[in-house]
Order: sequence, then C-alpha cells, then structure tokens
Amino acid sequence: MSAPLPMRPFMLADTPRLQDLYAQAIEELTQDEYDEDQRLAWMTRAADAETFAERLGNNLTILVDQGNDILGFASLKGNKEIDMLYVHPHAVGQGVGSALIDALEKLAAARGAQSLTVDASDTAHEFFSRRGYGDVQRNTVPMGEVWLSNTTMSKPLVKTAAGAGRSH
Ligand SMILES: CC(C)(COP(=O)(O)OP(=O)(O)OC[C@H]1O[C@@H](n2cnc3c(N)ncnc32)[C@H](O)[C@@H]1OP(=O)(O)O)[C@@H](O)C(=O)NCCC(=O)NCCS
Repeated sequence: MSAPLPMRPFMLADTPRLQDLYAQAIEELTQDEYDEDQRLAWMTRAADAETFAERLGNNLTILVDQGNDILGFASLKGNKEIDMLYVHPHAVGQGVGSALIDALEKLAAARGAQSLTVDASDTAHEFFSRRGYGDVQRNTVPMGEVWLSNTTMSKPLVKTAAGAGRSH
C-alpha cells in the first residue's frame, strides 16, 4: 500500500501558489470540455488575490503538500458542499484528487452532513461519478461574457446496511 499523501489546512501565505495551480489546472486539464474564452473567464475568478484568499479562508480548505510542492487543493463550503477541487497538471492521475475528496467526505460527515454535493465541471464529471456521486441537475452558469456548463452531483454519506462495505 502506498503512503498516505501529506495533507494540511490552507494558510494565507499559500494564496499565490494556489492561484497558479488553479489557473494551470484550468488551462491544461479542461481544454477538451471548455473553449479558450470559457477557460479564461473561469481562471479570472482567482485573479484577485484578496478575493480568492477570502473564498479559500471562508471555507474549509485542505491541500496536498509534498516536500513544499503543492499538488492539489479542495475546499468544503458549510458542511455539505464541495466548493473547489483542483490538481496540478504535473500530478494528475496519481490519486491526489481522490485523497482530497475522501478527506472532505470525512470532514463533512464529522460535521453532521448526510450527503455531499458538488457542481462538477464537465472535466470532473466522470471522476465524481466513479466516486459514487449521482447527477442532480445540469446548470449553465454565466461567467463574465460567457456561459459555462456544469452538473450538480450528490453522494449520500450515511451508509445504508445494503450499501455498507461497497466502494461507491
Ligand atoms: C478532476 C481532477 C480534480 C482529478 O484529479 P486527479 O488527481 O487526477 O484524480 P485521481 O488521480 O484521484 O483520479 C482518480 C480516478 O479518476 C480518473 N480520472 C481523473 N480525471 C478524470 C477525467 N477528467 N475523466 C475521467 N476520469 C478521470 C483517473 O484515471 C482515476 O481513475 P481510477 O479511479 O480508475 O484510478 C483533476 O483532473 C483537475 O484538477 N481537473 C481540472 C479542474 C477541475 O475540473 N476541477 C473540478 C471542479 S468541480
């Protein structure tokens, strides 16, 4: 079994590195689903450091920090909504996203949530689907001059007797 990924809470000083990671993840990982104008509008949401730091700090934000290299971050809004999940392009497909979501699911359950929802990008839809999140509704969100599509997905956190022990 591989060693668990080193995780820690967000600190204000992480803001510039998370701005970079956010922009690189959108730029390099979402090209198949979103065009250039859409990616630019999406990236712009982290352009102002103060606003972005406020969003990260107001939520419960955790990150994977391996030897001072931030591989990804995720944040929980309230107790039942995933606000953000971004993995650095050089670290995708290595379980970073899964580890962050596992941790948020545990934190949400510890805060008493019965289920966890996410407005999943079209890039991340399959990822969440494989982790037991089901489609709730399709959304089209205005961002600046453009519109971006995503899907609200939800996963029950309380295991039923029939579901206990299953991986999804
Ligand atoms: C979606 C994202 C967070 C996944 O992170 P990751 O660290 O690569 O995820 P993992 O390595 O834990 O991947 C787990 C599994 O999902 C699969 N997977 C990851 N991204 C996928 C994708 N875009 N489409 C289909 N499968 C995907 C992996 O192959 C792996 O499969 P496995 O369980 O069979 O081994 C990452 O691609 C990302 O940052 N995307 C851009 C930003 C984004 O869209 N964020 C979501 C906002 S809601």
